[in-house]
Amino acid sequence: MAGTDKPITLITGASSGIGAALANRLARHGDHVVLVARRLRLLQEVAAEIEKAGGSSEIAVCDVTIGDAARACVDEVLRKHGRIDRLILNAGGGSRTAPEHLTGADMRASFDLNLFGVVNFVEAALPALLKQGNGQIVAIGSIAGFRGLPHAASYGAAKAALMNYIESLRIDLAPRGIAVTLAAPGFVVTKDSRKQRAKPMSMQVEPAANLLAKAILARRPYISFPWTLAWIARLMRLLPAPLYDRLIRALDRG
Ligand SMILES: NC(=O)c1ccc[n+]([C@@H]2O[C@H](COP(=O)([O-])OP(=O)(O)OC[C@H]3O[C@@H](n4cnc5c(N)ncnc54)[C@H](OP(=O)(O)O)[C@@H]3O)[C@@H](O)[C@H]2O)c1
Repeated sequence: MAGTDKPITLITGASSGIGAALANRLARHGDHVVLVARRLRLLQEVAAEIEKAGGSSEIAVCDVTIGDAARACVDEVLRKHGRIDRLILNAGGGSRTAPEHLTGADMRASFDLNLFGVVNFVEAALPALLKQGNGQIVAIGSIAGFRGLPHAASYGAAKAALMNYIESLRIDLAPRGIAVTLAAPGFVVTKDSRKQRAKPMSMQVEPAANLLAKAILARRPYISFPWTLAWIARLMRLLPAPLYDRLIRALDRG
């Protein structure tokens, strides 16, 4: 696939859930997708599905939390293809933890995956993107990063940090020709979302991936969905703390 004219799209967390569906969607659009995750067997299944649908992909097994591994992955793509058009930083996740069980190690692990798993790839790819002057960086945040949620301290804090980091990059990089897209999905039915208790207005993975793909291809700066939940979450940011806490506790109890 060296020398392809197709847009080169690297997607982390492409072995399952949103990342796998998005990789399929973008391959159908005509991108050559580089599927990045740790589980080779699942990546092979995603690659086979893409090929069956007439698309093209390649696999890079990589733990995104390891800076050297991220750099090696990016370097290999640049060596093969000479550029990266879209860098989609989707790998992430978390689980519910009661505050009395939450350790510093849990917090660091969540930041390693949800924040530094993105930072590692941006650091590795940014010089090439700046040289190209026309790439795109996409990161998948979460509505869980808007405000504190029950039993979600490690995940929510890492996603909040990620979203602030990405917004800052978006402001700095737009004048240099690099589009930055921040996505903040609500609940999408995947392996990761099954760990959450309350899942108001949850979406299936295919429509979620379609919305994301549309926003990415349009180089939109921001997308949050489903739009009703996104607006409710935005308005809830304005509530005073006592009211917000009561409402969220009631929602969490279902
Ligand atoms: N589902 C939701 O309701 C929801 C809502 C808002 C935001 N999000 C965000 O959307 C993204 C995708 O979530 P999902 O629901 O699709 O979850 P998922 O099905 O559990 O997929 C997570 C992906 O991340 C990869 N991953 C995890 N740790 C990794 C590591 N250290 N190195 C490389 N890859 C790693 C996994 O692959 P391997 O295990 O093979 O490495 C997998 O491909 C995440 O950032 C999540 O926070 C999800």
